[in-house]
Amino acid sequence: MAGHFRGTSSQVGKAFPNSPQFSGFMKPCRFEGDLKFLEVEGDLPEELDGTFYRVMPDPQFVPFIENDPWFNGDGNISAFRFSKGNVHLQQKYVRTEKFLKERDAQRALGGKYRNKYTDAVEFKVRTTANTNIFYFNNVLLAIKEDAPPFAMDPITLDTIGLCDFNGQLPSLTFTAHPKLDPVSRELVCFGYEAKGDGTPDVCYYNIDSDGKFTEVVWLVAPVVGMIHDFAVTENWWFKAPNAFPGHTTNAYETSEGQIVFDLPLTDKNVFFWWPDANGNAPSPHDIQAKYVRFTLDPRASDLDLPTPEVILERDMEFPRIDDRVSMKRHHHSFFDMMDPELGTDFAAIAPVLGGGHPLYNSLGHLNHQTGQLEVYFPGKTHMVQEPVFVPRSDTAPEGDGFLMALVNNYRTMSSELHILDTRNFSTARAIVKLNIRLRAGLHGNWVDAKEFTSH
Ligand SMILES: [Fe+2]
Repeated sequence: MAGHFRGTSSQVGKAFPNSPQFSGFMKPCRFEGDLKFLEVEGDLPEELDGTFYRVMPDPQFVPFIENDPWFNGDGNISAFRFSKGNVHLQQKYVRTEKFLKERDAQRALGGKYRNKYTDAVEFKVRTTANTNIFYFNNVLLAIKEDAPPFAMDPITLDTIGLCDFNGQLPSLTFTAHPKLDPVSRELVCFGYEAKGDGTPDVCYYNIDSDGKFTEVVWLVAPVVGMIHDFAVTENWWFKAPNAFPGHTTNAYETSEGQIVFDLPLTDKNVFFWWPDANGNAPSPHDIQAKYVRFTLDPRASDLDLPTPEVILERDMEFPRIDDRVSMKRHHHSFFDMMDPELGTDFAAIAPVLGGGHPLYNSLGHLNHQTGQLEVYFPGKTHMVQEPVFVPRSDTAPEGDGFLMALVNNYRTMSSELHILDTRNFSTARAIVKLNIRLRAGLHGNWVDAKEFTSH
């Protein structure tokens, strides 16, 4: 059987290569299990009653493809469950078709990132489900934008199966960044390359809180390109100048009828390892995003976005808001920042840093009304992953609550979950010690415990 596979057994090692994406802190973790009553330094807020889910690309087997991006790995879900001043960790892989076939074959079968022609066998759906983990209509959706999501049980993390929403999903793909309307509880989604690899078709769809599709709109993009994230207001869409928007913060319509849209933006190709058609690629050191705001009149005849205003001249990404104000005016946002001036000891961590993934050494909180920036610096040998915001209570004002983010500690080579109280942002209120290492993840979300009982 092995002889029919691409990549002969002599090519497929049992140890990961010594390349940046598989070295140091980026070594695959491949851990599943439970850690109960994690060690906590400081004061874990009793108000935290729910689960922080996040996903990391974590290859189950040594690849037969050389030097693919760090995020070509199987989706492995972390669930940090908070209750009564304690926190527990559960870790489990999504049982995708690829994961199960590879486990059966006891070797890697999936090929290059988003290139099915390099696979060792044919998959019906080759997704790794490794980009976002999102709770909707009683299930967790493990999502990568090249396929429908995989549904998982939010309590056990058991994989239920590929989710086509009871046959309603019209697109072959599903965005990794769906937006939940906090008022209507509708999920606003799209898929690009929606009729298959390389197709210009974009499918936009809304799903109501019971899982019923309420609107489907087919569009054709002028070029086939990655459409990783989007922002939603009540009524509009627009054309933007050429740039590399990674993630969006939020967008909203003002009472004067204008649209405000905040996001980190860079003019460089963030995926520097994939050069353009002429072979040009930026040096990773030159890629920096600024935090910008587009303000536009949707009724203007020219639907091209105007030049944005720079609202923060810092290298930042992974912006988050208090999700209760999604699609409405936000006064606060939280994000990862890289500021070498804060004192990171790059010489000390360089040998164990690994590579390929984005590096941010601090968390920021921007008050959009006052322009004030608060910064949390976790330490000289630390990098931060994407944060999530948790309101202090249902009735707490916007931005009043807790920010949590996984932190890579390169001195101990283990992960920590840092929990900040937004009333005292610059000092951690609690640091949860995992005593294991979780490599770079992509996205995560908080699900309040009452969500599991309210349906
Ligand atoms: Fe993303």
